[in-house]
Amino acid sequence: MDYVLRTFGLTKIYQDKHVVQNINMTIKKGEIYGLIGKNGAGKTTTLRMILNLINPSSGKVELFGKNPAKNQSIFEKIGSFICHSNFYHNLTAEENLEIHRRLMGVVSKKRTEEMLKKVNLMQYKDKKVEDFSVGMKQRLGIARSMLHYPEFLILDEPTNGLDPQVVKDLRQTLIQLANDYEVAILLSSHILSEVDYLSNVLGIIHEGHLIEELNYEALQEKKKRYLQLSVNDVKKASFILETELNISDYIICDGGIIKVYNKMDSAELNTKMVESSVEVYEMINAHDSLENYFLSITEEGDLIDHYPAN
Ligand SMILES: Nc1ncnc2c1ncn2[C@@H]1O[C@H](COP(=O)(O)OP(=O)(O)OP(=O)(O)O)[C@@H](O)[C@H]1O
Ligand SMILES: [Mg+2]
Repeated sequence: MDYVLRTFGLTKIYQDKHVVQNINMTIKKGEIYGLIGKNGAGKTTTLRMILNLINPSSGKVELFGKNPAKNQSIFEKIGSFICHSNFYHNLTAEENLEIHRRLMGVVSKKRTEEMLKKVNLMQYKDKKVEDFSVGMKQRLGIARSMLHYPEFLILDEPTNGLDPQVVKDLRQTLIQLANDYEVAILLSSHILSEVDYLSNVLGIIHEGHLIEELNYEALQEKKKRYLQLSVNDVKKASFILETELNISDYIICDGGIIKVYNKMDSAELNTKMVESSVEVYEMINAHDSLENYFLSITEEGDLIDHYPAN
């Protein structure tokens, strides 16, 4: 298996507080892994450990099947953007990228121009980074991370503060890198919709724990379409669903609401209910929101079941 990243029990403790705890994750070639978690969940700390910018308190990281601490050259295959990236602030955007290009052994000078264009910074190439806005620095950081054709791209909150057109272009670029060049991508966000669209795998991190990983199929499942009924008698309605309509894939929610996941004719369903004196107040086609799911499992008190046993 072409694992680009494997972590084993990755843990970070700051002042007796486990800010990242026992994280086991894997990323394969060409996979886009979205790490999603609220502010302070431990995303940046995890990425910094993967990048060997900080040492784990325990556990280990394997990159391209090797121990990065003993194989520093592995980092040549990796491009990264972590918030507050270091730039030479008194140098221009182009000069900053040029330094990186030469350092990483990329021969063609054209590559610098190509990357500046990719993030819409060509017209600012001669501007000093100290005069850049936060969003412009963000774009420059992303351009730098991709400049040396990395095989593994690690982006911390890449879309934070970017305008919609840049976000759209960035998404396209990332999808293309993964699909056409099998680049593995690990990106984090505290906004689910930012990573949901791109990711093949979604890892939910909460209070330092990786509480759930959803693959593509599971993600689709969570976004399933359903028919939502609002009825006066839930018990009777569910009896009709099962016996008269042979429907088993449904759930009962609070407030007389039933969600029916089986595909079915809503007119027939309504007729059967009315025939059995079940009043149907409302019937709507809807789909589950992953956002709601994310919120529901990261809400206080609902977590204990989701923590993996240590
Ligand atoms: N150097 C440090 N010393 C002490 N505590 C730290 C340090 N770095 C991070 N933390 C704490 O670790 C926890 C996780 O921080 P981290 O930056 O990894 O979260 P995050 O998920 O990236 O959040 P955000 O969405 O705000 O970027 C936070 O409670 C933070 O205060
Ligand atoms: Mg962070």
